[in-house]
Amino acid sequence: MNQTIEIMKNHRCIRSFLDKEITDAIIDELVAVAQAAPNSINGQQISLIIVRDKEKKRRIAEIAGGQTWIAQAPLFILFVADFYKAKLAADKVGRPLVIPESVEATIAVAIDAGICLQNVITAAESLDLGIVPIGGIRNDPAAMIELLNLPEYTFPLNGLTIGYPADRSHKKPRMPLAAFRHDESYDPAKLPGLIDEYDALMHPYLKSVGRENEVNWSTNTLNYYSFVYFPRVYPTMKIQGFKNDK
Ligand SMILES: Cc1cc2nc3c(=O)[nH]c(=O)nc-3n(C[C@H](O)[C@H](O)[C@H](O)COP(=O)(O)O)c2cc1C
Repeated sequence: MNQTIEIMKNHRCIRSFLDKEITDAIIDELVAVAQAAPNSINGQQISLIIVRDKEKKRRIAEIAGGQTWIAQAPLFILFVADFYKAKLAADKVGRPLVIPESVEATIAVAIDAGICLQNVITAAESLDLGIVPIGGIRNDPAAMIELLNLPEYTFPLNGLTIGYPADRSHKKPRMPLAAFRHDESYDPAKLPGLIDEYDALMHPYLKSVGRENEVNWSTNTLNYYSFVYFPRVYPTMKIQGFKNDK
């Protein structure tokens, strides 16, 4: 339909990067598109940390459970939930800062971060860069907080690794559109058949990319969802001031 839509529909994560730097001018643009994103109540509760230092990227790769592509790519951006600025405003106007204690704050800031993240992804992919979002940093959020000097009322939500692709990976098939789109109201009845259809499609796909052990979508998803895969998130959030009890 147009080039932007084609770029977005053509997305696939990249996990192998060339040894090629990203210019300061491009990084400035990526930051600018992130900041231009809509955000909840104009509270502007997202901050970015731009990481290019090799040793820091190596450490982040380790924190994220050994994700080598973080160290290999020239650029890592951390998307920080940041109510520290609101705390400064609260002190300035002499009123209490209550919202970080609520589940609403966690939802709102996670949505804000997702929008920022996608703005950067679309811009990066339009410049022939490759990306992979990195939720793996929540494996040890306290280590990220220490490494990047994050103050109270902040939390490392997600990362983004960016670089020039060494190869363009296969495009991962999605579920049939009908499992994603409901018109006017949610229709649970159609889902089991569509999930069977997708599992039958994913099995040969995973085999073709050498990930046969993941079996299919249902099995692979439950490899994550049958336990709390990042148990340190909630205790660390509480320490940072995100109580999530209101
Ligand atoms: C919020 C978020 C966190 C993610 N975290 C990781 C991660 O830590 N490591 C990784 O290799 N991929 C990560 N991914 C990439 C997903 O695995 C990937 O988007 C998904 O498998 C679909 O594949 P595709 O993006 O290539 O279409 C993440 C994606 C999102 C949106």
